[in-house]
Amino acid sequence: MSDKVKVTIDGISVEVAPGTTILNAARQIGGDIVPPAMCYYSKLEGSGGKCRTCLVKVSKGSEKDPRPMPKLVASCRTTVMDGMEVENITSPEVVEAREGVVEMLLINHPLDCPVCDQAGECSLQDLGFEHGAAQTRYEFDRRTFERIDIGDKIQLHMNRCILCYRCTYVADQITDGRCHGVIGRGDHAEISTYIEKAIDNDFSGNVIDVCPVGALTDKTFRFKNRVWFTKPVDAHRDCPTCSGKVTLWYKGEEVIRVTARKDEYNEVEEFICNTCRFDKKKTSDWVIEGPRAIANTSVISSNHYETLKPLPVIQQNPALMASNKEEFERTKKS
Ligand code: SF4
Ligand code: FES
Repeated sequence: MSDKVKVTIDGISVEVAPGTTILNAARQIGGDIVPPAMCYYSKLEGSGGKCRTCLVKVSKGSEKDPRPMPKLVASCRTTVMDGMEVENITSPEVVEAREGVVEMLLINHPLDCPVCDQAGECSLQDLGFEHGAAQTRYEFDRRTFERIDIGDKIQLHMNRCILCYRCTYVADQITDGRCHGVIGRGDHAEISTYIEKAIDNDFSGNVIDVCPVGALTDKTFRFKNRVWFTKPVDAHRDCPTCSGKVTLWYKGEEVIRVTARKDEYNEVEEFICNTCRFDKKKTSDWVIEGPRAIANTSVISSNHYETLKPLPVIQQNPALMASNKEEFERTKKS
């Protein structure tokens, strides 16, 4: 007997290990049927269950008990059962609910994308583009907060926070001294450092990478460029603190930002230390590996490296590969 359970999502079946969530089962299938996730983060234990963007409809509970679940469920928190049938983009009810969630997230989120450094890699921007209404029905003032200084490397812009809690999990699980968290409740809930002291441990910069919106951004990169005009390049160095595997973001010959490498779900592959992120901004600090593969759906990919993602025909030909490499070197310096 197989120790896997079978789940069908939007008509596509997959066999997964017992205990897998619907969201992760969908990620094993991949493509459009994967629900969006603003708070779940596979590398952060306990994350998920906060934002409701990943809602799905369970139209059949399991083989043993085929009754549908009475309400939409958070796919990041609901585990699959054998024979379960799930509807995501095929359910008008789910699509409508997601529109409602996006509308609610945007009630307080300022629409300052034109001046926000997260523009182009913001999960809420993508979600708003797909599911957002053209106009708000909200008549009251948006929630605003006093600016809080959390040090010279990280910018906290609380007005943009959607309270996904990812950064607090990073502080809890990746750094060795948690000094910030969510204080207050309801409309007053905010990310704070309690005593407004700087977050100064080796891995604190990872809060920037996990933040799905522009609430936590890199101060050393602030207003330097729009991300879609930069050139992302994978590089590594021999780092005593972390894996040293990063993405360098070039503007001309200058490295204007260093981040962890992110996958198709906008999650980092490995967390990196602050020295790699903030202090190594010279090409000579790094061993360049090649252009960063960016999802075709991202505005960042509308730019540079299409010609530098060698087609299979090029990969099989050493001469073509050599000229492709040459072109990459030239583009890197331009
Ligand atoms: S600051 Fe960013 S990562 Fe932290 S809770 Fe708010 S939205 Fe989430
Ligand atoms: S990703 Fe599931 S509730 Fe936020």
